[in-house]
Amino acid sequence: MQTLRAMTSRSEAITMVTAYDFTFARMLDEGGADIILVGDSLGMVVQGQDTTLPVTLEEMIYHCRAVARGARRAQLVGDLPFMSYQVSPEEALRNAGRVMAEGAAHAVKLEGGAEMAETIRRLVRAGIPVMGHVGLTPQSVHAMGGFRVQGKREEEAQRVMSDARAVAEAGAYALVLEGIPSRLASRITAELAIPTIGIGAGPHCDGQVLVCYDMLGLTPERVPKFVKKYETFYEKGKAAMEAYKREVQQGLFPAAAQSFGPIPERTTPPTGGVIQALGASGDQEPVQG
Ligand code: KIV
Repeated sequence: MQTLRAMTSRSEAITMVTAYDFTFARMLDEGGADIILVGDSLGMVVQGQDTTLPVTLEEMIYHCRAVARGARRAQLVGDLPFMSYQVSPEEALRNAGRVMAEGAAHAVKLEGGAEMAETIRRLVRAGIPVMGHVGLTPQSVHAMGGFRVQGKREEEAQRVMSDARAVAEAGAYALVLEGIPSRLASRITAELAIPTIGIGAGPHCDGQVLVCYDMLGLTPERVPKFVKKYETFYEKGKAAMEAYKREVQQGLFPAAAQSFGPIPERTTPPTGGVIQALGASGDQEPVQG
């Protein structure tokens, strides 16, 4: 975790992004992500759930393992899912250990403030680097009455501030600040010795994090105000699918370039023909193009 501290002391902003599988991890890693987070946001963007609450520890480990194969350079952080760390510090330790050992994560992230201090201490004592997460904590969506900006009123801001302090004092090496006013994020960042990573927390954090599906424009619904879409992959993917379907229907795909051996005259109508399996005998052409 020295690298992150070194980055902030050199005033180089940290760029964190989520990923949930090998291909995205490889692409984002090659694009220069400093930290790849296997976020429990996968419940919403990958599984189509309304909240992150249904995500299980087994699912997190599965996705961490896939991401670890693609992330060659970036630091890999695995989210601890709902109820995998809240019951007791010992249970949190066992589960965080699994995310590290089986999921190949370098660190874990957990949501919560002062109430999580003892748990953070327990994990850090066992050699598990912990990233904290305060402000809008999606696992508490029902307690918060929805996905709402936190810390707008002074007493709320004081609570977020003291939560941030408690997490840092407990030994977290970095802290996600989500959905809080920029001024509050700025104050927390100035006060804490550990790097802050913002999402909907304004520009004065030590780094920023976005959900990759949002950042790449893979979510067609309205996205939160704090998201910037750097691509429009949903529209591009849909257009690509339409073009593929058109070419299949018109008999334009596959052409000779995508076929093995000479293409004979068509003897069956374009639809309803028999699908011919590739035989085991005959010319052994490589399948890879
Ligand atoms: O689950 C997630 O993707 C997150 C980020 C939004 C910080 O916790």
